[in-house]
Amino acid sequence: MIDVLIVGSGGAALTAAINAKKEGVNVLVVSKTFPTHSQTCQAQGGINAVLENNSEDTVDNFIHDTYKASHKLANFENISYLCKNSKDTITWLDSIGVPFSRNSHDNIAQRKFGGTKAKRTCYSSDYTGLKILHTLYDQCIKEGIKFLNEHFLINLIVIDNQVRGITVLDIKNSEVKEINSKTVILATGGYAGIYSGFTTNSNASTGDGLIAAYNAGAKLSNMEFVQFHPTALENKNILVSESARGEGGFLVTSDEKRFIDELKPRDEVARAIFKLNQNKQRVFLDLRHLGLDKINNTMPQERRLAQEFLNLNMESDLIPINPSAHYSMGGILTNTDTQTNIENLYACGECSQSGIHGANRLGGNSLLEIITFGKVSGINAAKKSKNTKNTNISNSSQFIKDKNYINSLFINNKELNFYEDKEKLAKKLFNTLGLFREEESMSKTLSYIENIERNIEKYALEDKSKIYNTNLTNLIEFKNIVLLSKIISISAINRKESRGAHFRTDFQDKQKEFDKNTVVILNKNKTIISLEELI
Ligand code: FUM
Repeated sequence: MIDVLIVGSGGAALTAAINAKKEGVNVLVVSKTFPTHSQTCQAQGGINAVLENNSEDTVDNFIHDTYKASHKLANFENISYLCKNSKDTITWLDSIGVPFSRNSHDNIAQRKFGGTKAKRTCYSSDYTGLKILHTLYDQCIKEGIKFLNEHFLINLIVIDNQVRGITVLDIKNSEVKEINSKTVILATGGYAGIYSGFTTNSNASTGDGLIAAYNAGAKLSNMEFVQFHPTALENKNILVSESARGEGGFLVTSDEKRFIDELKPRDEVARAIFKLNQNKQRVFLDLRHLGLDKINNTMPQERRLAQEFLNLNMESDLIPINPSAHYSMGGILTNTDTQTNIENLYACGECSQSGIHGANRLGGNSLLEIITFGKVSGINAAKKSKNTKNTNISNSSQFIKDKNYINSLFINNKELNFYEDKEKLAKKLFNTLGLFREEESMSKTLSYIENIERNIEKYALEDKSKIYNTNLTNLIEFKNIVLLSKIISISAINRKESRGAHFRTDFQDKQKEFDKNTVVILNKNKTIISLEELI
């Protein structure tokens, strides 16, 4: 029997797998994509840490910056743990072979990111997430960790509030399977991908793990907080890393005037750009003064992307940009041990709300969080599995239900086109639950979503083949997107204040009564929201 079943294959999942395996237990990683495809690659600019040789910085400053950026919506103990361990986290990544860029003293180089007091972001040119992900994968292979790729999570099997495994769809042949395990770690990534057409994320970031957790009774928290990255290539939504500004790039209008301190926190910079865009003004990254050598040394990927997608050269042209949905701060609520409110179910990485980022995440903190809490999750789940009985179950009621449901999709005929509605919904999310929000338009979006929900069974498959049926996975994703959109809308409507990434034009100030987490649960088929004290 599997002791620790990890769903997802990004940086958090792979770190959890490596650490669980070290505890001597039986580990399986299940993922809908291949491990090297995850969103971890989108954290290009770096990973934050206070290193010994950096006399400009202190752990206290790091804790302070992270807590300040969270707008008090974080768990101070977890932030302290993250920051105090940051040096060891980098040392470990360095030891397994992550090729960090070096300074002239051959120490790991650091650059300044937004909202920080010091140069704190370690990097591997502008491929940091990708290099970390590939190194972790190498390590997993070396440790003999087993992978089950192209298996889409459908549901958690939960009996008496204890997780016993998962049901999955085998993407290769559309077969539904159940996998038993003593513990489950969800590391399935975030949900910013549901802003499709307005996001730096891949189409695969549809929050599947969050919906499986929610449907099983787990608490989702602070779902209204979605981070918009200030700089994506205009109308392409291809990320231009914060390293462009960290290395000294400017943000300018068409008349080449700067309008903001480029290294303010992301929410403030993104709103300033979006306001100009709403007034039909274009905004550009100006990197020309950095020169070709520096651009090639520190951001070769960004340079290539600007050439490929816009036919522009960073060393000689202004690069037009706009904000784009990039990261979700909300997620499955976890405690200090990454445990959820369901026994033996853990969550880590972007799918979790671990009390680190609160209302606004600092650039460079996502990679640090996934490695730090991926490790905590792997160790804790492994230990828990040693104290959990071997209770193999087969043909669980969840499995039978999911199998019948998938089979029914091959019989029903299409009445509504979910691709069209997915696109319409994404546009509404961007316009009403994007950088600026207010009650009336959010409520209209919620009514629109509830109408889709009422008709959800009318969306069916056009393609009835069983082999690599992307129409089928897209349909399941669409259903997850609809539910997530409803949860985000309800959470945003209920937070009647402005805080970090959640900016309401009708409630522009922070309110003390909202120094709390929004928490959403499914109760008797109803979505229930409440405000809870911070963990
Ligand atoms: O801009 C970036 O390189 C992204 C980094 C992050 O999201 O942490």
